[in-house]
Amino acid sequence: MKKAILFSFILIIAATTLFAQADLIANVYHRTTTSLNGNWKYIIDPYENGYYNYRYQPFDQQESPWASAFFLNSKPKSPSDLLEYDFDQMDDIKVPGDWNSQKKELLYYEGTLWYKKSFDYSSSKTTSRVFVYFEASNYKTEVYLNGRKLGTHVGGFTPFNFEITELIKEKDNFLVVKVDNKRLKDGVPTLNTDWWNYGGLTRDVKIIETAPNFIQDFFIQLHPEDDKKIKGYVALNGTQISQQYVQIQIPQLGLKKNLRTDDKGYVAFEIPLDKLQYWSLENPFLYEVIIQAKEEVIKDEIGFRTIQTKGAQILLNNKPIYLKGISIHEESPLRGGRGHSLEDAEQLLDWAQELGCNYVRLAHYPHNEHMLRLADKKGILVWEENPVYWTISWDNPETYQNAENQLSELIERDKNRASVIIWSMANETPNVPARNNFLNKLAQFTRAKDPTRLISAALEQKDYQGNPSIRTIDDPFAEVVDVLSFNQYIGWYDGLPEKCETITWKIEQDKPVLISEFGAGAKQGLHGDKNARWTEEFQEDLYVQTLKMIDKVEKVQGFSPWILVDFRSPRRVLPKIQEGWNRKGLIAEDGQKKKAFFILQDFYKNKKSP
Ligand code: GCU
Repeated sequence: MKKAILFSFILIIAATTLFAQADLIANVYHRTTTSLNGNWKYIIDPYENGYYNYRYQPFDQQESPWASAFFLNSKPKSPSDLLEYDFDQMDDIKVPGDWNSQKKELLYYEGTLWYKKSFDYSSSKTTSRVFVYFEASNYKTEVYLNGRKLGTHVGGFTPFNFEITELIKEKDNFLVVKVDNKRLKDGVPTLNTDWWNYGGLTRDVKIIETAPNFIQDFFIQLHPEDDKKIKGYVALNGTQISQQYVQIQIPQLGLKKNLRTDDKGYVAFEIPLDKLQYWSLENPFLYEVIIQAKEEVIKDEIGFRTIQTKGAQILLNNKPIYLKGISIHEESPLRGGRGHSLEDAEQLLDWAQELGCNYVRLAHYPHNEHMLRLADKKGILVWEENPVYWTISWDNPETYQNAENQLSELIERDKNRASVIIWSMANETPNVPARNNFLNKLAQFTRAKDPTRLISAALEQKDYQGNPSIRTIDDPFAEVVDVLSFNQYIGWYDGLPEKCETITWKIEQDKPVLISEFGAGAKQGLHGDKNARWTEEFQEDLYVQTLKMIDKVEKVQGFSPWILVDFRSPRRVLPKIQEGWNRKGLIAEDGQKKKAFFILQDFYKNKKSP
């Protein structure tokens, strides 16, 4: 008996851990892939009845799961069979896309929804490896292929992939995905946010086929201390990767550099370059970079630039810059709901450029990759942010690990994007010892993973030496970041717009300052006296007053007002004005611009670079 139990225990462990999450495959954007986008079947499962048996034990940890486990995609074998679900008789839902904006009954839904996609697959090569890649899924995702568990991912805004080489078939594959967007106290983000909790497979799902020994990852950027060199690494994945030749080519520079991996398939390099065209705002030049390994070749488009601080200045390619920014949430201006498409990114970044922006703060979580690829092409600088927002469980080690994993996946995905200059650790978090420890560890992790970019976070502020008319930064994390940032709402949450005239700012650290948020709510089309809150005139006046105030603050090297477009938030319920929308946008969700848009546009047009 004992042996049988031991054997079945080993079997269960094998079944659940055989296909753990694979290391993230780099540069999927330019790989040849097979899309699984389109119509999927779905089952709404608030009681997780397809996942747990009636004793609340997970089916996927049973030696032989009951047929009622949804991931088996069971069908009755005889008329007497008992089955209480059938994916193929359910309705369709589109992938990519959050479920909230696709189905009226799911607008406020928070819980589990199961997706099922059936597909055939013919591999293009005899010997290859196959992976399934998810660009994002919010929030906790369990993935099964042909009844076998591939693994679990936590976090709603970063990519993940699983190897399915041993499982995928020519015919009748079924990919079943359980997505649970319940907010969790120990989650990242935690229970309270000021944005809509869009759930589901919110971005593309695709199959990637690689060579048996493939180029898993690479990092190629300008050397942070020497802009006449590129520095980075290439990492292979497979069984024959030791002491392999890898070649890096940059045809426009006539560069062909042969490298040789170590025993683990990894090689770091520094390559001197001359006559390099730096990526800049005026000339966002992208080089074609080719990486050739024995069994495969991949290409990326990479811009080379340096970003540093010098005292209170931010230097792009050794020249001081002023960041004319705007904050953006990831909502589709075309359809509503979570943005995910190139068209969504084009609309948002076109509006930002129409405003006169050279910089965008992508709040408060990693946006889809189109935003970064397009910012690279358009010459727009980017602040990317980890969703460590407000009241995170700072003392919980699992919460920290979750935050670090999500930040790691973000850096993995975007570390070769010239447009990305700032990794933001958090937003508006309290100055308490547990948080300071949490953020210091995140900053240390980030610097080790990517020493080429700047670190920031929206910090805490207070009255300077008790004087309410002088504000200052009051946050030990200010000693850690490269760029000081803070959100300030004088005139909206703190007095009225004329209060701006009475406030001065005293920044004691010798570092650049970015004001990461200011703003006011206005219902587009509502007009009246500028003292009447929610009118466009009130918002317009707040911008006029705030711009005057911050233009006098020394060390400010830019700002990103809150926010480009009105966005959904369950916190905002004022009848006739909000009704589930945060109205601080300069543009309404239907694309109508408000008067404040033109105040900021005019300021940026006349703002001279340092
Ligand atoms: C905060 C927060 C935003 C929020 C905004 C607001 O500063 O960073 O996420 O939406 O204020 O209150 O509108």
